[in-house]
Amino acid sequence: MSSTWSATRLAQYLATEKARVDELLRASLPRVEDYPRAADVARAMQHAVMAGGKRLRAILIFAVAELLGAGEKRVKELALAVEHIHTSSLVFDDLPAMDDADLRRGQPTVHKVFGEATAILCANALLMLAFELLARAELRPRDKDLLIEQAARCVGLPGMIGGQAADLHLMKAGADLATVEYIHAHKTGVLFLYALGGAARACGANDAQVAALESYARNLGLAFQITDDLLDRTGAVEEVGKSLHKDRDKTTFVDLGGVEEARRVVEELVSTAQASLALFDQRADALRAVADFVRVRRY
Ligand code: IPE
Ligand code: IPE
Ligand code: MG
Ligand code: MG
Ligand code: MG
Repeated sequence: MSSTWSATRLAQYLATEKARVDELLRASLPRVEDYPRAADVARAMQHAVMAGGKRLRAILIFAVAELLGAGEKRVKELALAVEHIHTSSLVFDDLPAMDDADLRRGQPTVHKVFGEATAILCANALLMLAFELLARAELRPRDKDLLIEQAARCVGLPGMIGGQAADLHLMKAGADLATVEYIHAHKTGVLFLYALGGAARACGANDAQVAALESYARNLGLAFQITDDLLDRTGAVEEVGKSLHKDRDKTTFVDLGGVEEARRVVEELVSTAQASLALFDQRADALRAVADFVRVRRY
C-alpha cells in the first residue's frame, strides 16, 4: 500500500521533522569555546553536521517511535548517533583518497575548508561522539549493549567499511549485479537497517514488528542508493548540493541496466518496502510517505 499523504503534507512533514532533528544535532555537538586547543576540529564537526542534510535516517527513527507509541526520549540518542555516523561517513567519503569531492550539502567539503588532517580527525570525532551518545542512552542495559554492538558492526568491516572498500575497487568493467548489490547493501543499506531495527527494539517492538520494519529498511536502503546513483548521473547540482558525476569510473545500478531499468527497480523496491508495513495501521503512514519521497526525490 502506498501512502495516502499529499505531496504538500509530505513536504511539510519532512521540513518540520528536519527542523526538530537539526536542533537536537546542534545541541549534541561540542562547543568550540570548550576546546581552545582543538577549535578547528570542533568547527569542522559543526560545519559537517550543520551544513545541511535531509536527516532522513533520524526522521525514520522518530517515525518508528511514533508508530510504536514511544516518546522521542526513547530514541533520541539513537537518532543522533545514526546521523553522526552518517555525517562521518560523508566526510571520509569526500576525501581526496576516496571520492575526492568539493561540494557537500551545498557547501565546500570539510577537507576543502579545514584541510585533510582536520577532516580525518573530524570524521573520527563524529564517530566517537555517536558511540558516546549510545552509551548514554537511557535504555535497558541489554538493549543498549546490543545497540552498541550493532552500531560497531554496522560501521565496521561487516558493514559500511566493507561496502566502501568494495566500492573503491569497483571498476567500470566487470562488476556484476551481485557485487553492486553487496556494495549498496553495505555502504548504505546497513545504516538504514540499523536505524529501523534499532528503533524498533528500543521501543519494545515484537518479533513480527521488528521483521516488518527491517524488511522496509532493507528495501528502502537499496532504493535510496539507486536513486543516489541516478541523481549522480541525471541530477542538477544546485538541487542535489554535492559534487556529481563522481561515479564515472564505477559500475552502478544505472550502468547495469540503464536509467529506465534503474527507475523500475526503485519502483519495485519502494512498493516492497511499503508492502512490508501491511501489519501496521495508518500510524505507519509517515513511513509509507517517506518511501514515496525516496521514489521521487530530486535531492
Ligand atoms: C548520501 O546520503 C550518501 C548516501 C549514503 C547515498 P543522503 O542523501 O542521506 O545525505 P544527506 O544527509 O541528505 O546530506
Ligand atoms: C556513499 O556513497 C556511501 C557512504 C558515504 C557510506 P556515495 O559516494 O555514492 O555517496 P555520495 O554520492 O558521495 O553522497
Ligand atoms: Mg563513495
Ligand atoms: Mg561519494
Ligand atoms: Mg553517490
